[in-house]
Amino acid sequence: MLITTDIAAIRGWRPNAGQPVGLVPTMGALHAGHLSLVEAARAACGSVVTSVFVNPLQFGPGEDLDSYPRDLPGDLERLRDTGVDAVFTPRVETFTAKLLTTVSVAGVTDGLEGAARPGHFAGVTTVVAKLLHVVGPDLAYFGEKDFQQLAAIRRMVRDLDIPVEIVGMPIVRDADGLALSSRNAYLSDAERLRALRLSHALRAAAGAWTGDADRARAEMRAVLRDGEGIVVDYADVVDEHTLAALSGDGHTRARAVVAARVGRTRLIDNCRLEVG
Ligand code: PAJ
Repeated sequence: MLITTDIAAIRGWRPNAGQPVGLVPTMGALHAGHLSLVEAARAACGSVVTSVFVNPLQFGPGEDLDSYPRDLPGDLERLRDTGVDAVFTPRVETFTAKLLTTVSVAGVTDGLEGAARPGHFAGVTTVVAKLLHVVGPDLAYFGEKDFQQLAAIRRMVRDLDIPVEIVGMPIVRDADGLALSSRNAYLSDAERLRALRLSHALRAAAGAWTGDADRARAEMRAVLRDGEGIVVDYADVVDEHTLAALSGDGHTRARAVVAARVGRTRLIDNCRLEVG
């Protein structure tokens, strides 16, 4: 397994000539959700590159950049066990410090996380554009856990004609329904129990889904209102392409999205709403 911080070493790296290269961008502290992306990439690609980079550009002032969980030795072990071919761990000084260029996507990033975290998505799309540019993969894998991020990246790739196929992968959850997240490491046992309200709210919306966005939204908010120790940022039903809030009846498909703070930890989750 190649492990490198060097842009020149990873650029054009093609151990299996003629076979597709898959890229899985991550910020490390890897869990089974990340590894599901790696496994999907391995199944479809001749070689797989994973990047591990806690991207300062996507953290706002007062967010958890300094305390974000980091475990490179553990990550490398997990990636080796999962059969990754190369790990790219760029350095802040050579990768994102002193940039005068930003890649930002309008529209799909306006609401939800974009409204709650100004500048966040520009930080994400700038670094993902750089990773795609440096690695030059045929396929790149992202989780639906960050549904709005996935929409922004799809749009960037389309608008900038970046020659890569973006593959979206389902959310991996713990047995009790909590979506896996590196930030779950911050939760105390009591907070973890409270955090289950997010997936419960989504399940309530999915269970009640008849195509009526207002009813599904009300179901979600009823579950979340019951939760002690949770501050809800948003709980909404949105169009899965534009991410705009939906209202009224007659929708066949939509996405239920939620963000909430449990103690000092901000969590997000979502699920597809589909009739039948
Ligand atoms: P990170 O939060 O480390 O997530 C890396 C990838 O793993 C993302 O595509 C994310 O959606 C996916 N992922 C996280 N939890 C998941 C889960 N429970 N099930 C399935 N997939 C999951 O997202 C980022 O990093 C960064 O914004 C990044 C794209 C690397 C740019 O810096």
